[in-house]
Amino acid sequence: MQIGIIGTGGFSETHCNLLEQMDDVRVSAVCGTSLAKAERFAQKWRGVAAYGDVNQMLDQEKLDAVYICVPPFAHGALEKAVIERNIPFFIEKPIALDDELPAELLARIEEKSLITSVGYHFRYTDATQRAIELLQGRTVGMALGTWMGDMPRVGWWRKQEGSGGQFLEQTTHMVDLLRYTLGEVTEVYAAYANRVMHQVEEDVTVADVGTVTLKLASGAVANISNTCILPISDQAGLQIYTDHGVLQIQSNQLVDRTKGETYTLQNQSNPYALENKAFIHAVRTGDTQYIRSTYQDAIQSQRIATAALRSAATGAPVTL
Ligand SMILES: NC(=O)c1ccc[n+]([C@@H]2O[C@H](COP(=O)([O-])OP(=O)(O)OC[C@H]3O[C@@H](n4cnc5c(N)ncnc54)[C@H](O)[C@@H]3O)[C@@H](O)[C@H]2O)c1
Repeated sequence: MQIGIIGTGGFSETHCNLLEQMDDVRVSAVCGTSLAKAERFAQKWRGVAAYGDVNQMLDQEKLDAVYICVPPFAHGALEKAVIERNIPFFIEKPIALDDELPAELLARIEEKSLITSVGYHFRYTDATQRAIELLQGRTVGMALGTWMGDMPRVGWWRKQEGSGGQFLEQTTHMVDLLRYTLGEVTEVYAAYANRVMHQVEEDVTVADVGTVTLKLASGAVANISNTCILPISDQAGLQIYTDHGVLQIQSNQLVDRTKGETYTLQNQSNPYALENKAFIHAVRTGDTQYIRSTYQDAIQSQRIATAALRSAATGAPVTL
């Protein structure tokens, strides 16, 4: 299978490395914002053609699938070019800055019945899968999600019009994990503030602390909070409080604390490898059952982040 990659940054590299390890899969082309950047990226692997224009890459190469690994602000024309040519695609989260573009793209995707997959990799961890099993027969009261850390150093991240802010760009993983494990969200209420980062770094327009209260269709409630003011990486994960005890889903493990017992499960498999395997299998065979996040599903996680932004701006809860 011939794969094309759009984007020449850190996560294109992660996917490229994983794809190159798979049988009968080759990354045959990469497209960047300039030919020079694509050439620099392509040099790291053998036989990867470099392009500075997406239409040129899609017309000259015979690609079975495309990976789109670009920042939130860069979505739109890239997907349209891929969909127009009926090419299945894997896309990194978040899928956009707003709700309008994803709705427009989804209509085109559905019209063509295209296979899509979104990089919500927490869905593929051993911890998440085991948590879903353990939740059977337990009543969920509430959940607390966190993404506490420092500010990523890439320029686009600190600008609201570049990344959409931490909750939309990063903490979306926890929002998606909440939906995946506990079901849909019906209402959000958010409070954001700029406390530190605009004073220590130039051009910072994203909020650097935020807390979002969520109501779920099940009747449970949740809070997901984040900050990027820390000089270190602190905790990121989802704690689920049930009538049996506390389930903690972290990036590397699951901890289940019930009365008199603590059970810990360390992740054995690589969730990024699993999401790639599921997507490539789907493109090769048409069997999409192993894809755990489609474009259609990811739109719901996106809607929660944009609703939180609106709530933080107006000070009022937003019903979904
Ligand atoms: N799932 C995860 O765990 C995970 C981890 C890291 C990043 N990501 C996501 O991956 C995406 C990319 O992140 P990154 O860390 O690679 O960022 P990055 O800044 O390292 O790279 C982004 C790349 O996109 C390229 N780009 C921008 N506009 C483009 C266009 N129109 N055409 C072609 N290329 C274009 C830039 O030149 C740059 O090379 C982000 O949405 C991020 O949230 C996901």
